[in-house]
Amino acid sequence: MKNYYLTTPIYYPSAKLHLGHAYTTIAGDVLKRYKQLQDYDVYYLTGSDEHGEKIETKAKEAGVSPKQYVDDIVSDIKVLWDLLDIDYDRFIRTTDVDHEQAVQKIFDRLKENGDIYKGEYEGKYCVSCETYVTDSSAAEGKCPDCSATLEVVKEETYFLKCSKYVDRLVAHMEANPEFILPESRKNELLNNFIKPGLQDLAVSRTSFKWGVPVKGDEDHVIYVWIDALSNYITALGYLGEDEELFNKYWPADVHLVGKEIIRFHVIYWPIILMALGLELPKQIFAHGWLLMDEDKMSKSKGNVIYPEYLAENYGVDTIRYYLMREISFGDDGQFTPDTFVTRINTDLANDLGNLVNRTISMTNKYFEGTVNNHAIINEHITWLHEVQSNSLQSMNSNLEKLYFSKALEDLWRLVSGTNKFIDLTAPWALAKDEANLPLLEAVMYELLKSIEIISTYVKPFMPTTAEKIEQQINIEAVTSFTTLDVSRETYNVLSKVEPIFPRLEKEVEVEKIKGEMQKGMEAAKAKLAVEDEIEFDQFKQVKLKVGKVVSCETHPNANKLLKFQIDLGTETRQIISGLASYYEPSDLIGRHVQVVANLKPVKLRGELSEGMLLTTDTSDGQVKLIFLDEHEVGAEIL
Ligand code: MSP
Repeated sequence: MKNYYLTTPIYYPSAKLHLGHAYTTIAGDVLKRYKQLQDYDVYYLTGSDEHGEKIETKAKEAGVSPKQYVDDIVSDIKVLWDLLDIDYDRFIRTTDVDHEQAVQKIFDRLKENGDIYKGEYEGKYCVSCETYVTDSSAAEGKCPDCSATLEVVKEETYFLKCSKYVDRLVAHMEANPEFILPESRKNELLNNFIKPGLQDLAVSRTSFKWGVPVKGDEDHVIYVWIDALSNYITALGYLGEDEELFNKYWPADVHLVGKEIIRFHVIYWPIILMALGLELPKQIFAHGWLLMDEDKMSKSKGNVIYPEYLAENYGVDTIRYYLMREISFGDDGQFTPDTFVTRINTDLANDLGNLVNRTISMTNKYFEGTVNNHAIINEHITWLHEVQSNSLQSMNSNLEKLYFSKALEDLWRLVSGTNKFIDLTAPWALAKDEANLPLLEAVMYELLKSIEIISTYVKPFMPTTAEKIEQQINIEAVTSFTTLDVSRETYNVLSKVEPIFPRLEKEVEVEKIKGEMQKGMEAAKAKLAVEDEIEFDQFKQVKLKVGKVVSCETHPNANKLLKFQIDLGTETRQIISGLASYYEPSDLIGRHVQVVANLKPVKLRGELSEGMLLTTDTSDGQVKLIFLDEHEVGAEIL
């Protein structure tokens, strides 16, 4: 048997997963089931990426240990994958002991080889993406990927010698056009990251604890991306007690990843593998994002829909079908309630559901449910066979390229073709004349055969639906495409069947889903409101004092600004404030005002300002100083 090793990214258990996350894992599951039907021995890996500063901070906010924090979310993720019929072979957690030990060994090996060395990192870091960001790509201190505010990091760190491997990496990329797909991503990476000069990567952190410690240098935890990427080999036992799976399945046939994390998979991961002397994965496929209203679906923005809601109301298979059909794999695509309900009504209830339903009822009506193979051929049957072979050929070739949407389009050509075959052969007309019965039986046989083919090819996408069809046409579960080549003697369908997809009231359902999406928006808004709150410790960082205006005059270079000398009891400070439109300078002399005393000095239009005067902003557009004339000069405001 041929082996096939396929992985998804491992997910951060930092919040509940949404439909966008489910997209990758569903695609992986479709691929696994397709390869199994082709008789491959498939290993499908998924899991959770549990270390790092982001998780440590979230756990702190929740008042629990990082492990307690991730445990609950990870078990929810597993429940979600079960719900969505994800047939993975291992769910690796980066907190699994075998993984942690292997990661330490990997790090040690690279250190021993001289591919990891110690130095100091100073620069910007995005905690949300767990990524180092170069100054040139950090516009206004924000992360170029997720727009979060960047942290400035200065710490002793180990570095991975990327420079040593970059030429080999580029040569590999050039020599293997299928290494990175879609191809456009390759040029993006070459031009934006590799050609400008790839810097050595900082691969350890010292400013927090939640990670795999570097052996013998426990102040350092291994950078979460090194820890995470290694999962693709540690899950198979690499450097563990039993390397059998590793020897059997590595190198991976495909790593499925979202487009924003391709850089880690195409640059750093191959470099680690080269440094370890291991083969590179055969392919890294970057899919696009699931968008909502033109924006990436993401919990912090609130533009999310959760798979649980859709599954409960419309069934799991509709979600799997919709995601694979609506979005072309590799590109971004929109989730809209309208297209979701339309796909269910049109493609599933009308085209597929009706085909199965009317074929079964005609088989019952004309032949009491049993038809035999008479191997009769006429022009319509020949035409149907051609539609079958053309659409399946194209479907297989698209599936090899992971063009899931095109593959389903091909399959639906067969669904429509089979429906058209009913119109062309008009079984109800044939039934009127007994002489036509053998032909009518052949027509029904061909219809059932076509449905068997469709259900087999639909199986990777909609396993439950395929199972229902198999039950209704009363055949054993098909487990390999090869059995489709063997003609059955007889079909013997069930006498009474339910439609596999009930038709939906479009407007009603669209409104319901919109209502559900609105809940996500409201939850995100509420969260933002909570995030506006600060801790008492943060408030305490601001030093407020009572100051007395010693002198006040108009700023020499700006007519809206006033220049104050303020007595703070122990010293006199110059403060510039935009109050010229509201006060006569002479009226303010001697008044006691509220001063922020520990603000970093700045120059405002050429004059130094060493603090800030507090004011209120009234509804009539006036700005008013807060006077504290009865309070002692220099007193701290607490
Ligand atoms: N932990 C890293 C991956 C490490 S792999 C060694 C990570 N985790 S994640 O939870 O943020 O994302 C997991 C996957 O979900 C990524 O492939 C990401 O692209 C995908 N998606 C998250 N939001 C998505 C959409 N809105 N649409 C499509 N995929 C999205 O990155």
